[in-house]
Amino acid sequence: MAILVSGGAGYIGSHTCVELLNAGYDIVVADNYYNSCPTALERVKEITGKDFRFYQADMTRRGDVEKIFQDCPDIDAVIQFAAYKAVGESCKKPIEYYSNNLNCTLNILDVMREFDCHNFVFSSSATVYGDPECVPITEDSPVGRTTNPYGTTKAFTERILNDCCEADPKLNVALLRYFNPIGAHESGLIGEDPNGIPNNLVPYIAKVAVGKLEKVHVFGNDYPTPDGTGVRDYIHVVDLAKGHVCAIRKLTQNPGLVIYNLGTGHGYSVLDVIHAFEKACGKELPYVIDPRRPGDIAECWADPGKARTELGWQAQYGIEDMCAHSWNWQSKNPDGYAK
Ligand code: UFG
Repeated sequence: MAILVSGGAGYIGSHTCVELLNAGYDIVVADNYYNSCPTALERVKEITGKDFRFYQADMTRRGDVEKIFQDCPDIDAVIQFAAYKAVGESCKKPIEYYSNNLNCTLNILDVMREFDCHNFVFSSSATVYGDPECVPITEDSPVGRTTNPYGTTKAFTERILNDCCEADPKLNVALLRYFNPIGAHESGLIGEDPNGIPNNLVPYIAKVAVGKLEKVHVFGNDYPTPDGTGVRDYIHVVDLAKGHVCAIRKLTQNPGLVIYNLGTGHGYSVLDVIHAFEKACGKELPYVIDPRRPGDIAECWADPGKARTELGWQAQYGIEDMCAHSWNWQSKNPDGYAK
């Protein structure tokens, strides 16, 4: 029995590989290194002391996916991370986003059917909820009113997976809706390594802290939130990774389609995060208040109760650890993996 981790060299993928290996699973990793690099996988081996099979493969090519399943008949589950993920870029390149993100999953599902593999975990996002009517967000909240093509690829893929489960009673699918993953493995060996200037808050703060960027830009302080800045549910990437191990276990009970929010249930504002990071790195971080970023919402946090009850999963790390581990990674790797 082995798990194919598609997009396993990326930020969430690499942390999930560590947790799967630590939990005793055999893994087969596939990645085309479009937005990742081999060093991440070397470091996964260093952290775990374990080896695994690897394919440099493009999941949009059916032949690439088929070859993996031909070579590895022991694959009985897939965790699918491989996707483009930049919100802003998706607005400029919708065709690329729809084509890549939908085709990766469609190809994998098609080949899984050919090889009689019935378990699939999908890397979805809280972005499928759009601007939520109320917080905390439960899994029953309306889905689909997304605000950008990236989010819509997640909502469409969820819909495709629903239809596939309707059509095939043997298929088990877990849709994992992530809130805002941050942090890094405690070792500081793997972490988030965005290309160019980071779009997301914590990688941006980390670059300011390490002296690569001048100051943090706070996008709006006039939201209807306690301090006026946007509130999000930040979740430690290692907790998130462990959620995948729990989802894989759940699929062995043949549940059909299941959906879980993976968040902590706590919301922190942009200023809260800046201050927590200041504590972690031991210095004051300069910031300015800028206008709101188009498409942003005021607040978004999870009701993680369903994952707790049905998966026995609960986030363990708090915001201090998240920032401390992000800083540990960034300060030890000021240029990321230097790919
Ligand atoms: N923010 C700033 N300055 C920055 C970057 C962000 O003030 O330089 C603010 C944003 O306005 C927002 C908060 O920090 O209030 C978080 O922003 P991020 O860009 O880090 O994260 P988002 O909540 O916008 O989006 C993230 C992922 C998406 C995912 C979504 C799920 O980027 O892929 O969470 O809710 F879909």
